[in-house]
Amino acid sequence: MPEGGHAASLAAQTGAWRQDSYVDGPIRAMAVATLFWGVVGFLMGVLIASQLAFPLLNLDLEWTTFGRLRPVHTSAVIFAFGGNALIGTSLYVVQRTCRARLFGGEEMGWFLFAGYNFFIVMAALGYVLGVTQGKEYAEPEWYVDLWLTVVWVAYLVAFGGTILRREEPHIYVANWFYLAFIVTIAMLHIGNNLALPLPGHAKSYGLASGVQDAMIQWWYGHNAVGFFLTAGFLGMMYYFIPKQAERPVYSYRLSIIHFWSLIFLYIWAGPHHLHYTALPDWAQTLGMVFSVMLWMPSWGGMINGLMTLSGAWDKLRTDPGLRFSVTAVGFYGMSTFEGPVMSVKAVNSLSHYTDWTIGHVHSGAMGWVGFITFGAMYWLVPRLWGRTELYSNKLAAWHFWVATLGIVLYITAMWVSGIMQGLMWRSYDELGFLQYSFVETVAAMHPYYVIRMLGGVLYLSGALLMVYNLWRTVTARAEEAPLAPPLPAAAAVPAE
Ligand code: HEM
Ligand code: HEM
Repeated sequence: MPEGGHAASLAAQTGAWRQDSYVDGPIRAMAVATLFWGVVGFLMGVLIASQLAFPLLNLDLEWTTFGRLRPVHTSAVIFAFGGNALIGTSLYVVQRTCRARLFGGEEMGWFLFAGYNFFIVMAALGYVLGVTQGKEYAEPEWYVDLWLTVVWVAYLVAFGGTILRREEPHIYVANWFYLAFIVTIAMLHIGNNLALPLPGHAKSYGLASGVQDAMIQWWYGHNAVGFFLTAGFLGMMYYFIPKQAERPVYSYRLSIIHFWSLIFLYIWAGPHHLHYTALPDWAQTLGMVFSVMLWMPSWGGMINGLMTLSGAWDKLRTDPGLRFSVTAVGFYGMSTFEGPVMSVKAVNSLSHYTDWTIGHVHSGAMGWVGFITFGAMYWLVPRLWGRTELYSNKLAAWHFWVATLGIVLYITAMWVSGIMQGLMWRSYDELGFLQYSFVETVAAMHPYYVIRMLGGVLYLSGALLMVYNLWRTVTARAEEAPLAPPLPAAAAVPAE
């Protein structure tokens, strides 16, 4: 049974709060940045996917090689697209659910927008010019890291300050997830980037070395997945799905259990990235056990998200934004089942270093992170610009089907290619010699790389449809998409 009594009282009170008291200008800018960086990131994904299929596209120039453009892709999709979406939606959600104006006001909002996007541009320039510290997902050098620390502390102050000045006694669960994301990313960022810069140089050397360095890097890397790509987006799920479905969260109690168990378990699972390495065996086993346990809270969260639609499933036919959000939760369930399986050492001995990992990454990244963000944008953008409806539901439906097909092509190609690759590497002939040379395994992957590239083109095309649709929604004349009347009280705060 949904637990909605508390929500009703919240919603009734919230009708009195004036919508124009909130700081929304910087959030609009972050929504635009989300769409912009999304297109850039997907385009870079398609480019590097094409380079893997057709190496000629590296163009023989140092700036355009796969090695330099790969972190441009990963940072553009994770930090630029995902980061702007997370910061933007968190500032929207915290103000509404706390019935409080953003701490620090407009100035703080604009500082966060400009400061964070400056960090993105500085990081990307470093990648293309070859100035990085060579740590995956933590490539930027010390001067960029210091700047991000300043911005992130300001973000924590803005978010935490808004919670502290709330008029609403209760802290809605979405805020708990967003806060865990902000605090943990600060801790990871500082812990993994402790380095000594060479005097007068952009280059630095990390404090840790050898296996300690590897462990700290994957403590960071895995929890970047857990707290950036998961906890933050769960905050989004807990606000936007109830809004879209106009239903309270299925079980508020389950959401609290989901929160505490997820953050407790995630932090220990990093060693699953270092199976069969110099890392002590007990640490690898610890990482594996915690990863397997992670399956439970992850599915608890998935069930909570999906069951929120109880009694509102019909909305899937009419609301394309909700369709994205619900499918995202399905992909979340899929990747959080696959992850624990891959963390088992015996399975990892096959999957590690292969495209299976890339398939897993993208079912989480394109399916969960991408789709939950698209769902939130279809809901948020019309409201941020005071429109009552989307320019075209049909175009949004096209986006949904084209992007879904793109993901299916991408991940199935990577599963087949990855498992084939792993099996080819470990096959021996009757005399005990390796049956395939490395280059034969590379040649065998070519068709799958072409399919993955096509999947990426579809995903990118869908995103372009969304950008056009939202642009037309925002720029529509009043008679095409009339300015929104004040939101009905029931929609003003997420039901719980
Ligand atoms: C148009 C869609 C996309 C395409 C074509 C694409 C393509 C690629 C390619 C070719 C790689 C390199 C794989 C390798 O080194 O073998 C990659 C890596 C990666 N991509 Fe994407 N990608 C797309 C969307 C996304 C999205 C939306 C996200 C995240 C929100 C994402 C996150 C990542 C990550 C984290 C990696 C590194 C994976 C690892 O090191 O294991 N990608 N992508
Ligand atoms: C219960 C949850 C999850 C577990 C236990 C898990 C486990 C794993 C494992 C075992 C690997 C392979 C490590 C290796 O062999 O190198 C991996 C890689 C990865 N996973 Fe997950 N996963 C989970 C959920 C997710 C989700 C939801 C996402 C994305 C949104 C994600 C993103 C990634 C990324 C980006 C990598 C590649 C890291 C790299 O090598 O660059 N995972 N995960």
